[in-house]
Amino acid sequence: MSASKHILLLPGDGIGPEVVNETVKVINWFSQNGPTQFTTSEALLGGAAYDAVGTPFPAETVTAAKKSDAVLLGAVGGPKWESLSIAQRPEKGLLGIRKELGLYANLRPAICFDALADASTLKREVIAGLDIMIVRELTGGIYFGQPRGVETLPDGTRRGFNTEVYTSPEVDRIARVAFELAAKRGGRVCSVDKANVLECTEMWREEVTRVHKESYPQLELSHMYVDNASMQLVRNPKQFDVMVTTNMFGDILSDTASMLTGSLGMLPSASLGAPNTPGLYEPVHGSAPDIAGRNLANPIATILSFAMMLRYSFNLKNEADQLEAAVSKVLEQGYRTGDIMQDGMKKLSTTEMGEAIIKALT
Ligand code: IPM
Ligand code: MG
Repeated sequence: MSASKHILLLPGDGIGPEVVNETVKVINWFSQNGPTQFTTSEALLGGAAYDAVGTPFPAETVTAAKKSDAVLLGAVGGPKWESLSIAQRPEKGLLGIRKELGLYANLRPAICFDALADASTLKREVIAGLDIMIVRELTGGIYFGQPRGVETLPDGTRRGFNTEVYTSPEVDRIARVAFELAAKRGGRVCSVDKANVLECTEMWREEVTRVHKESYPQLELSHMYVDNASMQLVRNPKQFDVMVTTNMFGDILSDTASMLTGSLGMLPSASLGAPNTPGLYEPVHGSAPDIAGRNLANPIATILSFAMMLRYSFNLKNEADQLEAAVSKVLEQGYRTGDIMQDGMKKLSTTEMGEAIIKALT
C-alpha cells in the first residue's frame, strides 16, 4: 500500500493548535519513514472558526472533511465564547462534524502505561496493566434528541428540557462495534445504562441483549447501571474489558476512566462511522485555556490519536504499535509534560515532548 493519504487538520482552540503541531511532526516522520505518504491541510472549527467566519461549523470544513481520508482534531471551546448562544458556541462545531460525518462510534481506550502507574490518584495495584476500551455512542441520545430548549411558561417560570432518544438500529450498530472489538480483545462486553429509571435505556439493554444472542453468543455480556459503573471504575477498573454506553454516559465515564491512566492528557479517541467515511481522531481532553499558548500542554493524547488513525483508518498496525511503543519509551525514560509531572522526572515543554517522541521513533 503506497498510495498517499490526506489528513485534514482541525487545530481548533486553546491548546489545540499546539498539540496538533507536534502531531504533524509525527505524521511527517511516518510519511518519510513508513509505507504510506501523508499530506495534510487545515480547516477551521470551533471558536477559531467563529472568530474568523462567524460560525463554529463552516460548510467548507464539512466539505474538506468529507474529501479527506481522516480528520485530526485538537480541541474546541474556551471562556471567550461562553456567552454565545449554544448554536454559536465552539462545541456546536464539534457536535456538528461528528453528526455530519455520521461518526456514531467513539472509541476511547483507557490504557495505563506502566511508567505512569504512580501518577494516578489511585493505588498502583488498582491500575497497573489497565486496558479498557470504552465505546461511546456519539451521534444520538440526549445530545441530539428533540424536543430540546428552554421556554418561559405563562406564569414566568422557565422550563428547560432535553430528550434522551435512541432507535433500535442505533443501538444495534453500536453494540456490534463493541462486540467486534471485544472479540479481538478479552471477549467481554459490559453495557452501561440506567434501565431501572429510563425507558429509553431499558430498550437499549434489550437490544444489546438481542444482538448478543443473535450474533455473538460466544462472548460474555453483562449489564450495569451507570451509577454503579462509575463506582466500579474507581473501585476495581480491571474488571472491565469493553464498555459500551450512550452518548452522555460515555462522555462522563470516559473522563473518569482517564484518571485511571494518570492524566486526561494521555487519552486518545477515534470516532468512526460507516465503512469508507473518514474517521475523526481527537484527544479526549479539552482546550485547556489556562495553559494555552505557553508550550506547556501534553501532546501525547493527540499523538496517540494519530496512532489510532494509523490502526483504524489506514490499517497500519505495525506503525501504530511502533508509535505507541515510542510514547511508552519516552515515559520510561522519565520525560513528562503537563499534569503527569512527578518527583524526579524530567519536565519537557510541548515541543520538546514532540521531539522526544520523534527521537524515540528513530
Ligand atoms: C468530549 C467533550 C465534548 C462532548 C464537548 C466538548 C462537546 O466533552 O468529547 O468528551 O461532550 O462530547
Ligand atoms: Mg467529554
